[in-house]
Amino acid sequence: DDFEGEGVWRYADALPFEAGVSIQEGATPLYEVPRLEDEIGIEALRIKHEGMNPTGSFKDRGMTVGVKVAKELGVGRLACASTGNTSAALAAYGSRGGMQTLVLLPAGKVAAGKIAQASLHGARILEVDGNFDACLDIVQELAGQGEAYLLNSLNPFRLEGQKTIGLEILEGFLADYDAVPDRIVLPVGNAGNTSALYKAFRELVQAGALDEDDVPKLTGVQAEGAAPMVEAVENGADEVRRWEDVETRATAIRIGNPVNAPKALPGIRETDGTAVAVSDEEITEAQRDIAAEGIGVEPASAASVAGLRKLRAEGIVDDDERVACLTTGHLLKDPDAAAAAGSEPKSVPADTEGVLASLASEGSS
Ligand code: F0G
Repeated sequence: DDFEGEGVWRYADALPFEAGVSIQEGATPLYEVPRLEDEIGIEALRIKHEGMNPTGSFKDRGMTVGVKVAKELGVGRLACASTGNTSAALAAYGSRGGMQTLVLLPAGKVAAGKIAQASLHGARILEVDGNFDACLDIVQELAGQGEAYLLNSLNPFRLEGQKTIGLEILEGFLADYDAVPDRIVLPVGNAGNTSALYKAFRELVQAGALDEDDVPKLTGVQAEGAAPMVEAVENGADEVRRWEDVETRATAIRIGNPVNAPKALPGIRETDGTAVAVSDEEITEAQRDIAAEGIGVEPASAASVAGLRKLRAEGIVDDDERVACLTTGHLLKDPDAAAAAGSEPKSVPADTEGVLASLASEGSS
């Protein structure tokens, strides 16, 4: 029942426990996407789809460890600020562990599927009249006052679990290409994954299991309307300037103050990676293209492919590279964005003639 030795917990040697509070997280697919690979024009492209986790995002990998810690500590209330996915995962893992959960969400800026999950899994949901960064400020203060145990990615145990994304990607590439990927492209919000992957790779190098020169280039992607990390990387800055006003259709990464930047910036730099900003239109186009390969992802996830496409067009990514794009959340997380990006249903009468007439009028066969 605790999933010992499977999924995330197959990597127990790299984690603080043998088993966690589990809903069977990890072991997500590393899809081939031959058409996208061809079109972008690189040696190999694979999609690591974290939307295939129990609650539909990578957050489950962190929660299985973080909620286990909370349980060991015997804390009463778990809390997070969230653009949605963290709240869904915390609510589910909190219930699994028999603990109360409190989530603070930016009012009107969280996708429907995510609120539905947090709600059904029994979280106490507070909608804050402010953005995600304001929510996180408040939750940090609550935690500081002993009111709750913080389960945002500032919690280092969350990031321990998320290291396994990197370990699975390396294993998958080694199995299929006999080499680790040249580059991993991922969406960036709080930069938790960027930090976690970098930590995973550093530990492998220290253990002598990975050559320093083989560490994949960590490449972060943000939406243009919320791109403080990109700004810092482009300016060669050591610190990230907090953006007060952020906006993007990819609400999961509508974040102006990436709290893990001090750990993530060195990761991008030391691995010879980079960061790039993409427009909402580029994100939606990528979401459609990924969907055309049969893979359903939410907008923030599609940012990875949009960023890769842009960097390839600019010649920053070479044509001989093997690349993994991380897609962080499932399409159904944000049904409204999916419907808006897809085609409109058309009304027809309830008879075959009506259907045939409609097909003919569209000129399709
Ligand atoms: N993609 C998705 C789908 C996310 O939900 C998030 C973060 C990210 C990417 C960014 O990941 O923080 O590791 O750089 N979502 C958080 C939340 C903020 O509250 O669900 P990061």
